[in-house]
Amino acid sequence: MSLQEIALQLVAPNKGILAADESTPTIGKRFAKINVENIEENRRIYRELLFTTPNMGEFISGVILYDETIRQRASGGHTFVTVLEKQGVLPGIKVDEGTEALVDSPNEVVTKGLEGLPKRLPEYVNMGAKFCKWRAVIKISADIPTEKCVQINSERLAKYAKLCQQNNLVPIVEPEVLMDGDHTIEKCFEVTKKVLLTVFAELKKAGVAFDSMILKPNMVISGSECVKQAGAKEVAELTVRCLKETVPAEVPGIAFLSGGQSEEFACETLNEINKVSAECPWQLSFSYGRALQASTLMAWGGKSENIKAGQEAFLKQAKLVSLARDGKLEA
Ligand code: 13P
Repeated sequence: MSLQEIALQLVAPNKGILAADESTPTIGKRFAKINVENIEENRRIYRELLFTTPNMGEFISGVILYDETIRQRASGGHTFVTVLEKQGVLPGIKVDEGTEALVDSPNEVVTKGLEGLPKRLPEYVNMGAKFCKWRAVIKISADIPTEKCVQINSERLAKYAKLCQQNNLVPIVEPEVLMDGDHTIEKCFEVTKKVLLTVFAELKKAGVAFDSMILKPNMVISGSECVKQAGAKEVAELTVRCLKETVPAEVPGIAFLSGGQSEEFACETLNEINKVSAECPWQLSFSYGRALQASTLMAWGGKSENIKAGQEAFLKQAKLVSLARDGKLEA
C-alpha cells in the first residue's frame, strides 16, 4: 500500500483512530482513577481488552501503540500487531519521547525524540507499524506561547514527518494546543491558527508530502477554566474556519484529539464539525484517547470478570464516535 492509501484508509468514512499510546506514567494516571496498579501485566491486560474487542474494526481504522505495547502479546500468543491486523486495523506507533523544558522559558515545553529516530523507524517497520505519531504541546497563558516555542516544536514535527515518509511510514503530525487555562475560545483560535501556519510552513520547507500525512490538531475550544464555555456548534464553526485558513487541500485527513473533552462532548463537537464540513477538502475524523476509553476503564475496573463489560463499553463508545465522525449522531 502506498503512503497515500494508508493515510486514506486511516480516515475512511465512519472510521477513525484509537490513541492507545499512553506512556507508562500517563496510563498510570488513568489506572489510578480506577485503583489499578500500574504494572506491565495490567497494562498488557488492558490493551488486550481493547484490541480483542469483537468487531472493533467496524469503527476503528488504526490504533496508535506505545513502544512497550508494540512488543507485547495477547494471551493467545499473537503479537498485538497481529491481533490488530486480524481485526483489519492498522497498527501505528508513537515515536516521540515526551517533552523537555524550553530553554529560557521554563513554563513551556518542546518535544524530544529525534535523536536515534532514523534507527528506530526501520525497527518499527519490521514489527509491522504502518504509521507514526509525534505530539507537540503548546500551552496558553498570559505571555505564552512564545514564538520560539511554536517555531522549535514545528521544526521538530517537520523533521520527524520527513523521516517517517523516507521510511515508508505515514506521519501523524500532532501540534496540540492544550485546553488547560481560563482563556477564551477566541484566544484558542488565534493560537491554533498561528501554530498551524508555522507547522505547515516548516513541513513545506522540509519537503514533506502533504498527501501522505494526517494532521492531528486540537479543536478550537474554550479553555477548561474559562467562565464562558462555548457550545458544540461554536466549537465546530471556529474549528472549521481555523482549518480552512491554515491546512493545505492536499492533506487527506484531519483526525482530532479529544484533549480532555468528555466522551459526550467529544461526540457532539465532532458531529457538529462534520455537519458543517460540506466544502472542506479533507476528511474530518478522530484520533481519540480519553474520549474513547473513559467508560471502558470504568466498566473494566481492573477485574478479570469485567473484561466483557469493558469491551461492550468500548464498542458502544466507538460506535457513537463513528456516527459523530459522519455527522450522523442524533441529538
Ligand atoms: P486524547 O484524545 O485523550 O487527547 O489523546 C489523544 C492523543 O493521542 C494525545 O496525544
